[in-house]
Amino acid sequence: MSILNDLSKDTVIFISGTPCTGKTTVASSLNDYLLDNGFDSRLIKINDFAFENDLVLGEDPDKFYKVIDIDRLDECLNEEIKKNSANVLIVEGHLSHLCEGADKMIVLRLNPHILKDRLEERNYSQSKIQENLEAEALAVCSAEAYEIYGDKTNEIDASDKSVEEVRDLIIAIASGNLECPVGSIDFMEWLLN
Ligand SMILES: Nc1ncnc2c1ncn2[C@@H]1O[C@H](COP(=O)(O)OP(=O)(O)O)[C@@H](O)[C@H]1O
Ligand SMILES: [Mg+2]
Repeated sequence: MSILNDLSKDTVIFISGTPCTGKTTVASSLNDYLLDNGFDSRLIKINDFAFENDLVLGEDPDKFYKVIDIDRLDECLNEEIKKNSANVLIVEGHLSHLCEGADKMIVLRLNPHILKDRLEERNYSQSKIQENLEAEALAVCSAEAYEIYGDKTNEIDASDKSVEEVRDLIIAIASGNLECPVGSIDFMEWLLN
């Protein structure tokens, strides 16, 4: 039996999380896997989407990320979702959880000890690394996602999982076969170190 049996052909999946938790990698793997298995899947990378739709307002002072017009992003994204009603649509990016339109909202979580190495590899400034690690320890994305999506919000701890394992958990959640409610992953101990 395939894990794809229960996945509806028109599911909209959003994948959010702190930078470097694996959103882009996992979303690409999921999209490729669905395409390989006969699904009409499409991946929207929210930062590219914001660029293409002229929604970038400026750069933050550190020049590490763009400031994006979230209200317009929400509008444009939902127009796009309507146009793609026959496809599986995957929307990935750390702003996706601030937009409406997902059938399943997935927040990737990562132990801050692991996240730190990944952020350092990406050459973020020390202050940006600290900010992101604290945000992860405090589950900021999950809390924000929960405000919009409530119980449609699911969290996956990607800390000791391969890309394929995370991908398969997302498929199980999107298919209605698994629930990973917000609140069960706790990285608060990191704040005490
Ligand atoms: N499950 C995983 N196991 C090991 N490394 C991973 C995993 N997922 C992502 N990575 C690595 O972590 C880094 C950040 O991943 P990326 O997908 O760019 O994160 P994001 O899009 O959330 O910023 C990349 O070097 C990627 O190869
Ligand atoms: Mg990314």
